[in-house]
This record gives sequence, structure tokens and C-alpha cells, in this order.
Amino acid sequence: MSLYIQCKDVVKIYRAGGVKTIALRGLNLNIKEGEMRAVVGPSGSGKTTLLNIIGGMDKPDAGVVIVDNEDITKYGEKELHEYRLRKVGFVFQFFNLIPTLTAIENVELPMILLGKSREERRKRAIELLKRMGLGDKIDRKPGQLSGGEQQRVAIAVALANDPPLILADEPTGELDTATSRQIALLFRELHREMNKTMIIVTHDLSIAMYAEKISRMEDGQIIMDMTPAEMETYVLSPSKTEEIVARLEARKRDLLKEIEKLESDYKQGLIETEVFVSKYIELKGIIDRIDEELKKYTLT
Ligand SMILES: Nc1ncnc2c1ncn2[C@@H]1O[C@H](COP(=O)(O)OP(=O)(O)O)[C@@H](O)[C@H]1O
Ligand SMILES: [Mg+2]
Repeated sequence: MSLYIQCKDVVKIYRAGGVKTIALRGLNLNIKEGEMRAVVGPSGSGKTTLLNIIGGMDKPDAGVVIVDNEDITKYGEKELHEYRLRKVGFVFQFFNLIPTLTAIENVELPMILLGKSREERRKRAIELLKRMGLGDKIDRKPGQLSGGEQQRVAIAVALANDPPLILADEPTGELDTATSRQIALLFRELHREMNKTMIIVTHDLSIAMYAEKISRMEDGQIIMDMTPAEMETYVLSPSKTEEIVARLEARKRDLLKEIEKLESDYKQGLIETEVFVSKYIELKGIIDRIDEELKKYTLT
């Protein structure tokens, strides 16, 4: 069981307190059946928004999202609920387990929602937890497990209903390097064993290197796709680095101009104080993130 994904000109705009943030600005993406794809990029570039839309947890303002021959943006609430339950397994950065339930109960939960029998649920949950190397910890609550173990339980939860699509949002973001390596390896093994389509947002090169392709997001768009081999040369190659630094600096100049315009609009009384302040903070925030990115490249 697997499926392909196609995003066409996807736009997502958040509106909060009179301020618009364009999280996805005409994003295009094609993922093959059974592919493992990594998505990298600075924070705020729209990675989580993209996963939430593909996972049916959020709707775009424009564009098309085809999953397995169907445009999920046309789904109503009921269809979306079914879609999330049957087709998507989500792995989050903060594990997202229910603290009052044991590991096995957490894994059984999605199967309860699908109406599986008690025996069937227990059997599959035990199988999955064993596969995750947690056969002796099935009755522990999340608080009695390490971060890496909790993430393994969370992966078992995501696999419970055997969805053809696995989405993971910075699944090693909260883990130390050694544990991250293990989880990265687990994703690779699962991908090889189960032939599911996987999209993994990550800052973690050890995961990205296991993917078939790596997409880099910047500012609400996918700006390039690389193979792991290209990623390696790109990380090391001075000319590619220069290219990226030049683009980031150009974007920063544009943002500084936007701030100038905002300030002059405000001085002329064209916009409200509240709008000015929140827009100003947002633009500054993006500049800070660009500066952070720039630091990475100037260090290497
Ligand atoms: N619920 C929301 N309301 C308003 N703005 C949001 C919301 N979620 C995300 N954003 C904004 O959308 C942009 C993309 O965010 P996100 O998808 O979380 O990026 P990433 O996961 O790459 O860090 C950011 O500027 C962020 O501040
Ligand atoms: Mg995110």
C-alpha cells in the first residue's frame, strides 16, 4: 500500500489581528509512490504548514493537493476525518502521546476509532511495539519512558491503522544526537520494510541522507530538490553556498525595504498602530531567521 502526492500552486495565508502571513506562496511538489522525501529549510519557511495541509489537518487558500488521485482540498469535514484516520500516520516533534494511557493503549487508540476488535487491536499493538524494540515496556505510561522510547511509541501509533502515508514533523527535534541516529535508522528500516510514502521534515542530516530526495523550502516555496549525494556536495561546495548566501541576502534587502515602506506608511497615518506593530514584528522575525541561516553558511 502506497500512494503518490502532488501539490500544485498551493497558497496558504494566515490572518491574525489584521496581519496577513503568507505561509505557502504557490508551492509545487511531486512525490512518487513509496518515496521517502525529506524537507529541509529555515524555521518559518512553511514546512509544518505544508505537512498539515497534506495530512488533511488544515486547508489551503488556493491550489490543488492530489493524494492517490483525489483532490483532498475538496473534501468536507467527514471525508477529511476518514482520510486522516485511514491514510495518514503523523509523527510530531513532541511525541504527542496521551500521558494517562499506557504505550499499548496509545497504540490501540487509532484502531478503536476504526472500530477494530479488542483482540485484533492488542495483537497489532504488541506486534508494532515489539518491532519498535519496546516489547518489554508496553504497559508503561509516556512519563516512564525516555524521549527516544516515547518517539518509538509515537511511531507505532502512526503505523497502527497501516496508513499508506507517513508524515513526520521534526521527529528528532527533541532528541540527543545518538537517539536521533537510532530514530533516523528506524525510519529508514520502516521505509524499506513497508513501502509507505514518507515525508519527513527535519533539520537532521542523518535523516535527510536516508531520503531518496531532499526538498529545500524557503519562504513558502520549494526552491530546490536534491539527492543526498547532491546535498553532500552542496553542503560542502563553496559555489553553491555563495549562491544561497546571495539569495538570502537579496531577500533580506527586500525585507528591509518592506520595513522602510511600512514605517513611512505609518508616519503618514495610512495604517493603524496595531497593524504597524504586528507587521513590523513579523518582518523583523523573518530577518532574524535569515540572519540565523546566514550564520550557518558563514561558519562552514
Ligand atoms: N496558526 C498560525 N497563525 C498565524 N501565522 C502562522 C500560523 N502558523 C504558522 N504561521 C506563520 O506561517 C509561517 C510558516 O510557519 P510554519 O509552517 O510553522 O514554518 P516552519 O514549520 O517551516 O517553521 C511563519 O511565518 C509562521 O509564523
Ligand atoms: Mg515547523
